[in-house]
Amino acid sequence: MRSLVLFLVGLAVGAIATVLVVNAINRGPHYDTAVMTVMAQHMKAMDRSLKANRCATTDIGPQLQTLRLVANDIEPAFGKLQDDPQFARYASQLRAAADGALQVPPASCAAAGAILSNLDKACDACHRDYRN
Ligand code: HEC
Repeated sequence: MRSLVLFLVGLAVGAIATVLVVNAINRGPHYDTAVMTVMAQHMKAMDRSLKANRCATTDIGPQLQTLRLVANDIEPAFGKLQDDPQFARYASQLRAAADGALQVPPASCAAAGAILSNLDKACDACHRDYRN
């Protein structure tokens, strides 16, 4: 009797664990946080450049370009929010800020600082409304 109970408990625990694991696998890669993480890394890299007084186009430009390209993926990465017009507006505002910076490369660290703070504002605006 005791071994039967143990067997049934083991079976139940195994079944529950299998369901948990399969669910975790099906959730797949985290596209949304991946996009955010890549953008955040490039923001940090630009911030480091600035603090090291390295603000030439060759320092800031490549970071900015990658951030701009990854920002194209914000809407598709967020699935359900993709069709939310306000969410798309915030994403567009970030892209516009990056486009503006790419068109007028910073001539000084002060100019690069202004670009970073513009981008930061665009990140924060969306986070304020959509990030829990
Ligand atoms: C259009 C909206 C939007 C914009 C613009 C945006 N984010 Fe986000 N971000 C979000 C949302 C929504 C979350 C919450 C995601 C979650 O937890 O599932 C988030 C989460 C994050 C996270 C946490 C990721 C994690 O691992 O949990 C980081 C870091 C981040 N954003 C950085 C940035 C940076 C840097 C920028 C600007 C360059 C930016 N975001 C611009 C919507 C946005």
